[in-house]
Amino acid sequence: MDLPQRCSFSQPALLFFLYFFSLLSLSAFLHLYDKMPYQQWRISVKNVSNFPGRGQPASLITTNTTCNSSRSSSKIIDSGIWTVNSAGRFGNQMGQYATLYALAKMNGHQAYIYPAMHKYLSPMFRITLPVLHAEVAKKIRWKNFHLHNWMSESYKHIKGKYVRLTGYPWSYTFFQHIRQEILQQFSFHDHIKEEANQYLQELRGKRQEVTYVGVHVRRGDYVHVMPSWKGVVADRGYLEKAMNYFREKYPNPIFVVTSNGMEWCKENINASRGDVYFSGDGRESSPGRDFALLAHCNHTIMTIGTFGLWAGYLAGGKTIYLANYTLPDSPVRKRFKPSAIFLPEWIGIPADLSPLLSKKPSQVQKPEA
Ligand SMILES: *[C@@H]1O[C@H](CO)[C@@H](O)[C@H](O)[C@H]1NC(C)=O
Ligand SMILES: *[C@@H]1O[C@H](CO)[C@@H](O)[C@H](O)[C@H]1NC(C)=O
Ligand SMILES: *[C@@H]1O[C@H](CO)[C@@H](O)[C@H](O)[C@H]1NC(C)=O
Ligand SMILES: *[C@@H]1O[C@H](CO)[C@@H](O)[C@H](O)[C@H]1NC(C)=O
Ligand SMILES: *[C@@H]1O[C@H](CO)[C@@H](O)[C@H](O)[C@H]1NC(C)=O
Ligand SMILES: *[C@@H]1O[C@H](CO)[C@@H](O)[C@H](O)[C@H]1NC(C)=O
Repeated sequence: MDLPQRCSFSQPALLFFLYFFSLLSLSAFLHLYDKMPYQQWRISVKNVSNFPGRGQPASLITTNTTCNSSRSSSKIIDSGIWTVNSAGRFGNQMGQYATLYALAKMNGHQAYIYPAMHKYLSPMFRITLPVLHAEVAKKIRWKNFHLHNWMSESYKHIKGKYVRLTGYPWSYTFFQHIRQEILQQFSFHDHIKEEANQYLQELRGKRQEVTYVGVHVRRGDYVHVMPSWKGVVADRGYLEKAMNYFREKYPNPIFVVTSNGMEWCKENINASRGDVYFSGDGRESSPGRDFALLAHCNHTIMTIGTFGLWAGYLAGGKTIYLANYTLPDSPVRKRFKPSAIFLPEWIGIPADLSPLLSKKPSQVQKPEA
């Protein structure tokens, strides 16, 4: 076990720390001050103050004279440095962030994110994990720890002070126990919140008691990739069923459609009832406006992908998802436990797999149960 140790220090050692860190902070400060624009400079100061050296021993220096985990006079914690790879686009980055946040906390270590992840997430959210300087990240001899996409008991006891989690985790099972904290991390900056609310307000016009349903239709690369994974993307039948669910449940639903394949949506979603608005800008790499709109709606219709999963998680209302969208022998099924991805209260509508079956006659013999 490599849990945080509470140590009591001899006074000379403590003085040495204070001296050393005032020097370190000062030099870091002077070095960064004239090289960085204001915004980054502010973050840098935060990084330095978050470094486990202020009021705590730095994990790189271990001169504890006495250490007893059950009896501690001072609250000195040697919490190491944990991080996670910054891979994929927006939804993946959010998944990695939340998983790091939860696992580092569970194991009693301080989490840091890579600058690349900070760049993805901080324009949208009030995230608070400190950022690892690229130079520091390079010098550390990381222990890489690969994650599968669901929580395991062994993840509560990951050993190591310098751990880099890897993979593409997205599972509420990592962080559902601290849901409020995760939602706090992913709370939007005020200007984004205001813009989304204003837009939704305008859609409503003079109608009272409307219910906003965010619809995310993931297309793009998935349209080509899914068949090779023996799977399908959402079709018009799925979207119609999902929308009718809300039409039957609420008197004035307003469907806010965002997609990276908006042309397809306009051709395949029946908007003749006047309750459908196509409003996404469809950009996958800078998702800002789309994501904020979805997250500010009351309920969610997602198709596939982590972007829609997060929209549903943040919106917090009812979420409808496309279920069982791959054949039983799809490689996706090995990496993926539906029960760890879709919250129990979410509503799955099974996909129509018949296009796969008709294209590949060999698979007609073992169709989806
Ligand atoms: C610091 O404390 C730990 C935990 O008790 C101990 O294993 C380690 O040897 C100590 N280090 C020094 C330099 O005293
Ligand atoms: C830690 O402190 C407790 C309580 O004072 C004591 O019983 C125990 O022997 C100490 N352990 C070590 C390793 O010094
Ligand atoms: C602090 O975070 C900023 C934000 O990305 C980063 O650019 C900077 O290098 C970090 N500074 C330190 C000292 O870690
Ligand atoms: C679209 O919906 C309207 C109203 O419910 C219906 O009358 C019409 O047949 C639908 N059009 C298509 C192409 O399904
Ligand atoms: C629905 O969403 C709107 C916009 O975010 C919000 O103002 C309203 O309070 C929500 N309604 C309910 C019942 O949560
Ligand atoms: C998906 O398939 C599994 C296994 O056949 C089944 O238990 C589950 O109910 C299906 N989900 C939905 C939403 O139909």
